[in-house]
Amino acid sequence: MTDDKTTWKPGKRDALFLGVVIVVVTLLVLGSSERTTKPTPDDEVHRAVTSHETCLSCHGPDGERPQPVGHASSVQCFQCHTQPKGWQGNAK
Ligand code: HEC
Ligand code: HEC
Repeated sequence: MTDDKTTWKPGKRDALFLGVVIVVVTLLVLGSSERTTKPTPDDEVHRAVTSHETCLSCHGPDGERPQPVGHASSVQCFQCHTQPKGWQGNAK
C-alpha cells in the first residue's frame, strides 16, 4: 500500500516517451554532425595568418586551394571554421 506513491514502474507510455526522446536526440546528433564545418587546420600556415585577405590569397578563386563553388561570401572565416588553438592573429 505505502509503496504506491514511492515506487515507479515504467509503463507502456513511459517506454513510448523514452523511445521518442531517443529518436529525437539521435536525429539531432546525426543532423548536427552532418553540418559540421571543417575547422581551420592547426598548422604553421594557419596559425600565422592575421587577416582574411591573407586567407583569401590561398583560398580565393585564384589561390592554391580555392573555397568550393557556392561558398558563403562572408569574410568572417572563424564564424564557421573554428580557429586553431592558441591562434594569435586578429586578437592583438
Ligand atoms: C599560405 C596559404 C594559406 C593561407 C594563407 C591560408 N590557408 Fe587554409 N589551407 C591552405 C592549404 C594548402 C590547405 C589544405 C591543406 C591543409 O589541410 O593544410 C588549407 C586548408 C584549410 C581549411 C580546411 C579545408 C580542407 O580542405 O581541409 C580551412 C577551413 C582553411 N584552410 C581555412 C583558412 C582560413 C580561415 C585562413 C585565414 C585565417 C586560411 N585558411 C589561410 C592554405 C592556406
Ligand atoms: C557562413 C559560414 C562560413 C564562413 C563565414 C566561411 N566558410 Fe568556408 N566553408 C563553410 C562550409 C559549410 C564549407 C563546406 C561546404 C562545401 O563544401 O561547399 C566550407 C568550405 C571551405 C573550404 C573548403 C574545405 C574543403 O572541404 O576542402 C575552404 C578552404 C574554406 N571554406 C575557407 C574559408 C575561408 C578562407 C573563409 C573566410 C574568407 C571561410 N571559409 C568562411 C562555411 C563557411
